[in-house]
Amino acid sequence: MRIIEAKNYEDMSKKAAEIIAAQILLKPDAVLGLATGSTPVGTYQNLIKKYEAGELDFSQVSSVNLDEYKGLSGDHDQSYRYFMNENLFNHVNIDKSRTSVPNGLEEDAAKACADYDAVIAAAGGVDLQLLGIGGNGHIGFNEPAEEFKVGTHCVKLTESTIEANARFFASIDDVPKYAYTMGIGNIMAAKTVLLVASGKNKAQAVYDSFFGPVTPHVQASILQLHKDAIVIADEDALSLAREKGVY
Ligand code: GLP
Repeated sequence: MRIIEAKNYEDMSKKAAEIIAAQILLKPDAVLGLATGSTPVGTYQNLIKKYEAGELDFSQVSSVNLDEYKGLSGDHDQSYRYFMNENLFNHVNIDKSRTSVPNGLEEDAAKACADYDAVIAAAGGVDLQLLGIGGNGHIGFNEPAEEFKVGTHCVKLTESTIEANARFFASIDDVPKYAYTMGIGNIMAAKTVLLVASGKNKAQAVYDSFFGPVTPHVQASILQLHKDAIVIADEDALSLAREKGVY
């Protein structure tokens, strides 16, 4: 695992976009694992700029997203499918039929998860997986637990995650309580993992995940064992690690 320090959010976003762009240039038909949340938005904006400047071609790229709220359709403005369309897909020449997000409308959780694992397998696995990180160290929606889950599964979101995501909904009661998410096995199977973290509110998660023991109580800590994991964190996100003298 490598940690790259960025000055701030803009710098983090630029650096992350450079790595994704390099992946696409090296392998034009790359399979990208994509993430939602506010952190990757700047990364997507930089990728769009590169596309507009004629530096990047998404025509052969495929993508699989990490997660989706259970119960939301792709045209709900808080669904992760909608987020991806708005923040990236509508602005580049990616073929939307090659972009996948778990099916939030599938009520049968076992089927939704098995179907999604089949989608990832059919794509040939993920070349580069982009990740954000939750305040409790979650990646995708793999919340703190007694174990690491391997494949796509249905999770009950923790109160802290529901509260953190309430800002995007009219009221906290509207936040879905369950989500479908890739498992840690899916994430660890990606050839390269790129995690972005910005801001003081991620400092504890960054410290616990990358400078502490590998434990399912802090799910991102497993990335310490990945052969090609890159963490791009800004000064604020690394502030606690620096304060504690471990970075
Ligand atoms: C959600 C997503 C995660 C994301 C996290 C942090 O729970 N499922 O993929 O990393 O939020 O989001 P943000 O980047 O907005 O802090």
